[in-house]
Amino acid sequence: MTGLLLVLSLSVIYVTQKLLAHWRALKSVGNHPGYRTLLPMGSVVDYFLPRLPGITAGSNHYFVTKHSMFEEAGWDIHTAVSFWPSPKTSIVLGDAAAIKEVGSSRARFPKPVKQYASLALYGPNIVASEGEQWKRYRKIAAPAFSDRNNKMVWNETARIVNGLFETVWDGRDVVTVDHCLDITLPIALFVIGSAGFGKTLDWKEEIVLPPGHKISFKESLHIVTTRIFLRLICPHWILNLTKRGRETLQGFEELGVYMSEMVKERLTSEKVERHDLFSSLLASNSHVFDASTLTEEELVGNIFMFLVAGHETTAHTLCFAFALLALYQEEQETLYQHIKSVLPRDRQPDYEDMSLLTHSMGVFYETMRLFPPVIGIPKLSAEDTILEAGNINGEKKTVVVPQGTRIVISTPGVHYNQANFNSSTVLGRPARIQAIPLPQRLATRCFRTLQCWCSCLHWPKVF
Ligand code: HEM
Repeated sequence: MTGLLLVLSLSVIYVTQKLLAHWRALKSVGNHPGYRTLLPMGSVVDYFLPRLPGITAGSNHYFVTKHSMFEEAGWDIHTAVSFWPSPKTSIVLGDAAAIKEVGSSRARFPKPVKQYASLALYGPNIVASEGEQWKRYRKIAAPAFSDRNNKMVWNETARIVNGLFETVWDGRDVVTVDHCLDITLPIALFVIGSAGFGKTLDWKEEIVLPPGHKISFKESLHIVTTRIFLRLICPHWILNLTKRGRETLQGFEELGVYMSEMVKERLTSEKVERHDLFSSLLASNSHVFDASTLTEEELVGNIFMFLVAGHETTAHTLCFAFALLALYQEEQETLYQHIKSVLPRDRQPDYEDMSLLTHSMGVFYETMRLFPPVIGIPKLSAEDTILEAGNINGEKKTVVVPQGTRIVISTPGVHYNQANFNSSTVLGRPARIQAIPLPQRLATRCFRTLQCWCSCLHWPKVF
């Protein structure tokens, strides 16, 4: 009996403490509307469950709900406060002006670097860093994102796509592709491989593997980019139990070796003037460490990050664009006619023609608006502050943001927010491509800062 009483008393104390902490968390954000769930938004458990009101927000939440989570809250800023294991507060933004404010001040709203720590698996890098270290990486990489390099991206893209037509599709008129990513992933990889790292990759399978390797560079990068989540959540001994797990470990190991070989090869090869990203990174590699240099580990860490950041996002954008054009053939025809009207017949488009291809640009913008490859951009509040939330009725409200609060920019939230898109755009017909006119000015500006864009068009936007 005494034992039972003790357990009951402890349980009451435990629940009371949790309720008090939960109440304090709600108070800290002025009880601004949003989800009140048992489990925190974005937790590993959340990743595997559908939305269960009161329990979990569910996997892929930002894309599944798009702007409706904000409509439910009545404001374009939403709070999510969870209960267990300890109260966690997130502020989710679907408001263009608030996003602009958060996105344009790295000091007030830095990246939550701890959340990115796992991406430093080959070494520290531009994505997994903030503050002075981030500034240093940015300064070193920036010169590579020049007009000269854009031109190189353009020419390489043309070479690679022509190679697809000639070698893989062998000049055929009709080609059936099971999954569009089978085409767009290699295109993006080949472009970043050659324009970023001077590594000419093409469509022919590598029949002879380089000495000491069991899989090709292409295959290792594919394994790494598609199985990164598996590698991060499973310890080595678990991965070693299955064939897929062993392949994953092998992919990660081989990519590490390939990247070190790339560095050695470039350092020992004949010096020629190059304008790629790799040259900028390498020029700053030194054993004597100062503000303008990269250590070996930082060099490989950054090569890895640029390969991953530039390859998956671009490939998925291209894939969605092709899928939408296939679904909406009248839009495809409009695009085709526009290209024909601005480019002389049978001439390859040059880099200088890019500004004429406004409709193509519109298609990419609209594709990224509808299917943003990155759906939640995490930030942190470095100070006690406020943000202003708007809503569909044009009202405004101040939301309290305590220091240390996790902030998430919901890209589908802002992209599907009716306040940002006038009636001639996509509302009510969410799968239709509307090339131009682009969204209202405010949303367009915000949208552009969010999307640092595909390799062949807008590299400089990252910087
Ligand atoms: C459709 C193509 C792309 C999309 C949608 C995209 C999207 C994004 C987003 C949303 C961020 C986070 C921004 C933030 O934290 O504020 C980001 C960061 C980054 N992206 Fe991209 N990206 C694309 C292509 C590329 C390419 C081609 C490269 C490199 C060649 C690249 C390199 C980076 C890097 C290095 C960062 C980290 C920047 C930093 O923390 O300062 N991205 N990208």
